[in-house]
Amino acid sequence: MSTIPPTQAQQNAWKKSPDSELYINPLPVRIWHWLNAVGFVALILTGIQIRYANMFNVLSFETAIKTHNWVAFTVIANYFVWLGFYLFSDRITVYHPELNPRKFFDKAFKQFMYYSYGIFKGEPSPHKVLAYDKFNPMQSITYQIVMLLVVPVQFITGIMMWDIKRFEGPIAMLGGIHTVDTVHVLIFIFFVSFTLVHAYMGALGHTPSAHFKEMFTGYEEAEEKSDQ
Ligand code: HEM
Repeated sequence: MSTIPPTQAQQNAWKKSPDSELYINPLPVRIWHWLNAVGFVALILTGIQIRYANMFNVLSFETAIKTHNWVAFTVIANYFVWLGFYLFSDRITVYHPELNPRKFFDKAFKQFMYYSYGIFKGEPSPHKVLAYDKFNPMQSITYQIVMLLVVPVQFITGIMMWDIKRFEGPIAMLGGIHTVDTVHVLIFIFFVSFTLVHAYMGALGHTPSAHFKEMFTGYEEAEEKSDQ
């Protein structure tokens, strides 16, 4: 397992290639991301059908549950593509937190001011995107909480409800099926909001499509190359 930041030699070699610092989203991340996004939208829609079966009738209850389960297991397997890639590559540096609280809050505040004010005046983002340091502090902390805490809890509560009999013991330990179900539904509501806000923020690059293209091509779209 390599969680060590790139050595100076690696960084120098990296800098020699003119395009390399623009290569911000390696293939495994792109495959994981779009499969995950499609999977989450399918889980949200089938989840709504299961939860509000009395209000919608697009799918039968049985089909909605079967589809929800199959998509969920695909999304869970896909999660390990993301986790494995970051654990076994030097790109883990993009997720290294800023350990100095003063520096962290200073950078996060600047980024917050940018999103709430500077962006509307056409100011540049205070964070410069680099291959090994691509996230601003707000993205970094949000993605870490989502990927290392919220997503796993959603997987675990979902797996428990998939086979209540088999997971009887752990369900009882967590306070019963109603507690497990409530946590799963609250996180489901969180993901509906997260996906909307995240997709909106994805459109806040130097052009509305810049970040989306980057997640398809892997390369950061440099501002001067833009035709806008
Ligand atoms: C319609 C759905 C979605 C769209 C349009 C979308 C769009 C994007 C875009 C444009 C980026 C690149 C910009 C950035 O790094 O912030 C990105 C990155 C990311 N998205 Fe999404 N996303 C969607 C769904 C999701 C969902 C459901 C999750 C998590 C459950 C998610 C988690 C992430 C993470 C963790 C990254 C950073 C990836 C990395 O480099 O490690 N996205 N998304």
